[in-house]
Amino acid sequence: MTAPELETSELEEDVERLSMVTDQVNEYFVGHPDVVEKLLASVLAGGHVLFEDYPGLGKTLLVKTLAQTIEADFDRVQFTPDVLPSDILGTRIWDPDQRSFTFEKGPVFTNILLGDEINRAPPKTQSALLEAMEEGQTTVDGNRFQLPDPFFVLATQNPIEQEGTYPLPEAQMDRFLLRMHTGYPQTEEDEREILRRRIDWKEDDPTDGIEPVISKESFVRLQAAAESVFVHEELLGYMSQIVRRLRDLDGVEVGPSPRGALALLKAGRAMALIRGRTFATPDDVKSVAVEALAHRTILEVEEVLEGAEAEVPVRHVLDEIPAPRPRKRPEGDGQP
Ligand SMILES: Nc1ncnc2c1ncn2[C@@H]1O[C@H](COP(=O)(O)OP(=O)(O)OP(=O)(O)O)[C@@H](O)[C@H]1O
Ligand SMILES: [Mg+2]
Repeated sequence: MTAPELETSELEEDVERLSMVTDQVNEYFVGHPDVVEKLLASVLAGGHVLFEDYPGLGKTLLVKTLAQTIEADFDRVQFTPDVLPSDILGTRIWDPDQRSFTFEKGPVFTNILLGDEINRAPPKTQSALLEAMEEGQTTVDGNRFQLPDPFFVLATQNPIEQEGTYPLPEAQMDRFLLRMHTGYPQTEEDEREILRRRIDWKEDDPTDGIEPVISKESFVRLQAAAESVFVHEELLGYMSQIVRRLRDLDGVEVGPSPRGALALLKAGRAMALIRGRTFATPDDVKSVAVEALAHRTILEVEEVLEGAEAEVPVRHVLDEIPAPRPRKRPEGDGQP
């Protein structure tokens, strides 16, 4: 597939609409514009997000608002220990009139799937979902079914270790482009603003009436445009140095794989597009580095026992490695 030219006016208009997307989502989801920007970057980059957060911080509100705003279909699964792979993917059912089996699609056949408390699902169900996420398709009884485009999973995991949960193994965490935390409202003002909005909305879930500000088609075009954001060779060097340094750092047991470096590339390019640029800068990469790399960085046991978090070495490396200067695409280089 050839990437579309960013210069076309249609695409320029789409890029402008991206800021309308973040503005609208920020109107509902109070106090975390950085989270909104990164979530949008992940969806643009075609990557899935893992939210590790306590309950009641507005994740469902955030995801539903985003889905409505980009004209995407939305579905939600509450994971419990008895959720089977077929509850997610779908099942073949016998149709007595037709005297044949038909496939009843599961909730995974949507654009944006919110999987709540993925760590409560049994490993078999987790891997069924992760496989669908990786491949964009599912296979049920030997028949292959393509998932819609865009397809994006936002899974949540409660950070409190509970009995009867199956925390995602590291290998599966690696499938998520970004891991994020919304965290609690940072100021009393934000806390109050949430209450004020509730009074305006007159209901707990105000998302039904939200109008899209961008069409699904435009969004798919923008996903392709993110793939053609220019990345200078020096910036590729910067990303490589970040992951390589992280692998050798004291206290780090296992550093990010090349998939981690690719996550920097993908999320960094999408970030550039959201910020209205056709070239990525070191700042775009830096702004997503913790979310792209911390969940792929395994600390040594002693560090973990002391309560260290993998965000710390990532931040350390970002401080240590000098960023190259931002560089635009050279004129007339003929690159798409
Ligand atoms: N930052 C926020 N901005 C606006 N509303 C918020 C925010 N945080 C929480 N709320 C409100 O708190 C309530 C709970 O939010 P929501 O159901 O989205 O939380 P959640 O993170 O999905 O929780 P759970 O993990 O239990 O599913 C909603 O009514 C929502 O409007
Ligand atoms: Mg929720």
